[in-house]
Amino acid sequence: MTTNTPPTLVVLGSLNMDLLLRVPRAPAGGETLLGHSLSQTPGGKGGNQAVACARQGGHVRLLARIGRDAEGQALREALQRDGIDLAALQQDPQQPTGKALVMLEDSGQNRIVVLPGANAELAFDDEALAAPLQGADYLVTQLESPLPLVLQAVAAARRAGCKVLLNPSPMQPLPDDLWPQLDTLVLNEIEAADYAGMPVTTPEEALAAGRALLARGTGRVLITLGARGVVTVEREACVFQPALKVAVVDTTAAGDTFTGALVVALARGLGTPEAAARGVRAAALCVTRLGAQASIPTTEEVEALLP
Ligand code: ADP
Ligand code: NA
Repeated sequence: MTTNTPPTLVVLGSLNMDLLLRVPRAPAGGETLLGHSLSQTPGGKGGNQAVACARQGGHVRLLARIGRDAEGQALREALQRDGIDLAALQQDPQQPTGKALVMLEDSGQNRIVVLPGANAELAFDDEALAAPLQGADYLVTQLESPLPLVLQAVAAARRAGCKVLLNPSPMQPLPDDLWPQLDTLVLNEIEAADYAGMPVTTPEEALAAGRALLARGTGRVLITLGARGVVTVEREACVFQPALKVAVVDTTAAGDTFTGALVVALARGLGTPEAAARGVRAAALCVTRLGAQASIPTTEEVEALLP
């Protein structure tokens, strides 16, 4: 059953100011190159997924941490413009706002180094987690926040009757008892290969890896394959959806945009393939534009691409 009531998503994750350096190509060791431009743009996986959910029409409560600095203030204002509930946004007294150094080549290839700063200090007690999870449809989280906090939040979500979507990026080992607590797992081919312990380059290999991960007790597994698309693995059915063919400018936040569009559609009651189709379209628009949060499309833009 689908519903027009906007779903409520609690996003726990990182906020970074991205320092976006555009270069013709990445320099080799010891080489000096002339770049095109340097700009500051809001990012961080938590922030990106929160914005993606909000632009798809979700009510978003964000659990995150910034520093007492101009970057933190700029991130806060950007999130406010997207209508995101920032009641649980923390400000660290010492650590700077997280930063990501993004080197973007003319080819669209990016290379990213993250400095966690305040994100590493994100912490809540159980009561502070229970309040925003009350009445929420999904907890959406990644691994740019401290793992003990992510596990604490998953447990709190389950107690609150809230489903959990985990995007285990950047990849790190997870406890065995976490997998059955996840309604939805979204990961890319590199993470899937690492977790499943098998190569993942083709859709067939992704299906095999997805089945291996599903066997650990997770409800559904989606493996994104960059420009090739995504495989959706559930007990009842497995589906490969090709990506849309678009002119790539910047793939930053493609996975986060996919995740946000997917989870809002799932929370609205759409089936997994329909929800993934929205994710594929949202992510295709994202890669045609520069920047992380700046490139995330609205629900109207995504619907215009639906068949
Ligand atoms: P991540 O950013 O997490 O590594 P992917 O690179 O797998 O994630 O991208 C996520 C989704 O974004 C893909 O499943 C695909 O739908 C879309 N996407 C990524 N790159 C492209 C591209 N070059 N062209 C079209 N769609 C893309
Ligand atoms: Na982008």
